[in-house]
Amino acid sequence: MSELEKLRAAAEFIRSHSPVSPRVGLVLGSGLGGLADEFSGAVRIPYRHIPHFPVSSVVGHPGNLVLGWAEGVAVAAMQGRVHPYEGYSFAEVVFPVRVLRLLGASILVVTNAAGGINESFRPGQLMLIRDHLNLMGDNPLRGQNLEELGPRFPDMTYPYDPALQELARQAADELGLEMVSGVYAGLSGPSYETPAEIRMLRKLGADAVGMSTVPETIGAHHMGMKVLGISCITNMAAGILARKLDHAEVMAIAERVQVQFVSLLRKVLGRLA
Ligand code: HPA
Repeated sequence: MSELEKLRAAAEFIRSHSPVSPRVGLVLGSGLGGLADEFSGAVRIPYRHIPHFPVSSVVGHPGNLVLGWAEGVAVAAMQGRVHPYEGYSFAEVVFPVRVLRLLGASILVVTNAAGGINESFRPGQLMLIRDHLNLMGDNPLRGQNLEELGPRFPDMTYPYDPALQELARQAADELGLEMVSGVYAGLSGPSYETPAEIRMLRKLGADAVGMSTVPETIGAHHMGMKVLGISCITNMAAGILARKLDHAEVMAIAERVQVQFVSLLRKVLGRLA
């Protein structure tokens, strides 16, 4: 079966379970899955039921696709995602996003947890992703190009849609939420960075670092979707504070910020309605 046939089979399966034709796809990162629990008319499909869908193995990333309505917008949310560090190829990582596009989504909202490299940042802040550095050592578009999806050499001048960034900024202002903006560096992980790597990333122009989002953004952009990316700064990156990084602490901060993050996403969806 070709990749395109697999994508179409997955989309067909999802269509047979929900009448919702999503306009917005959401990738809900660590601790944000709760947003999808509040959709109206929701249909929840475990990833393991969807043909060819990759299934996440990470604690805190339950794997469900949830279709429904939020703030008047037809949405399809990924509760959990897979990462290259789990051993998935980049093509597998972008598979769900490609399916969202085939289902009709023209906007992708990607969220993640990230370490703050910019020393003016504080854990618990939200960062609007302005641009990214693909330092993951691969590209989801490597290999034969699927012409039906997009061009061989897609332009990446506006990977994160400027109008959506403005809309998110206004939504944050309305909520009185402080939101910083910056460049997200995607690394493959799963080990966190060394202090020397963080100093290098800062010199390269990165404001935050994480292990996701870059493949999804490239895959979505390839297919002509507009992407909005938002990071939750869960910790200061290695070497900035005189202590070790702890995954449990990262999750705890993500959990603490969840309420604000969800209210921002709701506001953004409301403005898209
Ligand atoms: N580094 C990489 N990924 C992360 C971090 C970090 O400091 N925090 C949350 N995800």
